[in-house]
Amino acid sequence: MKFGKKNTTEETGKTAQPLWHGRIKETSADALQNLNTSISFDLRLYKEDIFASKIHAQMLKDIKILSKEELAEVISALNTVESEIEEGTIEILPTDEDIHTLVERRVTEITEAGGRLHTGRSRNDQVATDLRLWTKKTITEILKSLIGFQEMLLEKAISVGPAMMPGYTHLQQAQPVPLAHHLLAHGWALSRDVERFLETRARLDVSPLGAGALAGSSLPLDVQAVAEGLDFSSVFNNSLDAVSDRDFVADTLYALTILGVHLSRIGEETIVWASNEFNYIELDGSYSTGSSMMPQKKNPDIAELARGKSGRLIGDLTGFLSTLKGVPLAYNKDLQEDKEALFDAVDTILNLLPAMKGMLETATFNTKRMNEQASSPYMGTTDLAELMVQNGIPFREAHSIVAGLVQESLEHGNDFKDLVTSHPLLGSEGANLLQLDTIASNKKTHGAGGTNQLEQQFKKYKENIAENKEKL
Ligand code: ARG
Repeated sequence: MKFGKKNTTEETGKTAQPLWHGRIKETSADALQNLNTSISFDLRLYKEDIFASKIHAQMLKDIKILSKEELAEVISALNTVESEIEEGTIEILPTDEDIHTLVERRVTEITEAGGRLHTGRSRNDQVATDLRLWTKKTITEILKSLIGFQEMLLEKAISVGPAMMPGYTHLQQAQPVPLAHHLLAHGWALSRDVERFLETRARLDVSPLGAGALAGSSLPLDVQAVAEGLDFSSVFNNSLDAVSDRDFVADTLYALTILGVHLSRIGEETIVWASNEFNYIELDGSYSTGSSMMPQKKNPDIAELARGKSGRLIGDLTGFLSTLKGVPLAYNKDLQEDKEALFDAVDTILNLLPAMKGMLETATFNTKRMNEQASSPYMGTTDLAELMVQNGIPFREAHSIVAGLVQESLEHGNDFKDLVTSHPLLGSEGANLLQLDTIASNKKTHGAGGTNQLEQQFKKYKENIAENKEKL
């Protein structure tokens, strides 16, 4: 891409004017141009801008504003501009404030008919259209990556089979759960993310093109035909709303942010689990980093970046919401701030997902160590209290009896299992309950963290993925 310093193109030698030169004669101050310009980041919308321009031009021909020949010239010029952008040969002038200005300027330079392209259209409905098209396409890309991540998690869960680990509350050992159950807990959170993206994509599927600057047009524009041509499911109902609505950006940012928060929580656990103290997970060298100074180090950078970048995503979302809240109807330049936030959040997630996927896919779980930790007899105390409940003792009382045994064992160093065996209300049946295998297979409730529930859970999760894949 060539960024010209002067407003004269090398190719034509013509001096380009800003779009408003008829009204404002003065040359824009550099400081204004530097602040106002968005071409450095909205160039990314060129495909959408060119596509929407073609559909708009086709409609202008259908309502007889462009002749057949003029339409052909405009389409061919748009194709030329597309290649120039792709080949990096296009010259961007200081007056090319944004992608819409650049495309229109070049089309008009190539063909005189280009001067009719902006009929009934404003950059206000144009940018809303381009960004909706881009977001729709990008959500599908994110969904593919996210579902790939879910499939990896399912495979991983199946591969560890019935291996048990300590389940935690307050990061204190609580009750044993299958490692697969723990992995799929993250998996279900990601399913909600998938559904959120699908809903966001469905909600944004509305064409704003034809709303003009804010009030539509006195020309007989066929907004319905344009919506269909752009493959939007419906068309706007209110022109003011059409050009000023950025809910779809906020919705997408939220979906990206909560996904980032989920990845951050997975990251945080990975970091803790990879520590020597926990030693639950071994990361593959290809997804770990070392230290420039300490020769023994193996660091979980990817997981840390997942944790760190969630802060950035939260910033993109809250920053944009803060921008949006003060914007009166209809279009105001504040809205230009939507793109950098959205692009940044999308790039962050599209970078993170494959890295986190690869890191977990290649990691090995130290199931032996998890099993040892999950075998602590104290992990069976809830089941002991429930055994007493089955024998008619009120739960509160049962809880207190078992807590008393725990206390005695901890205080006097007596073996907990012996204390249970010799308790008249527990005996050998109680002692037997303290076996990890027994606890693991003893859960009776729907969706519980027991080995008996695993097959059902794998099935449901697989079905959920398949259903969502259908909607891609
Ligand atoms: N670059 C602008 C944006 O991203 C396009 C719309 C400009 N409209 C205007 N009336 N200045 O929001």
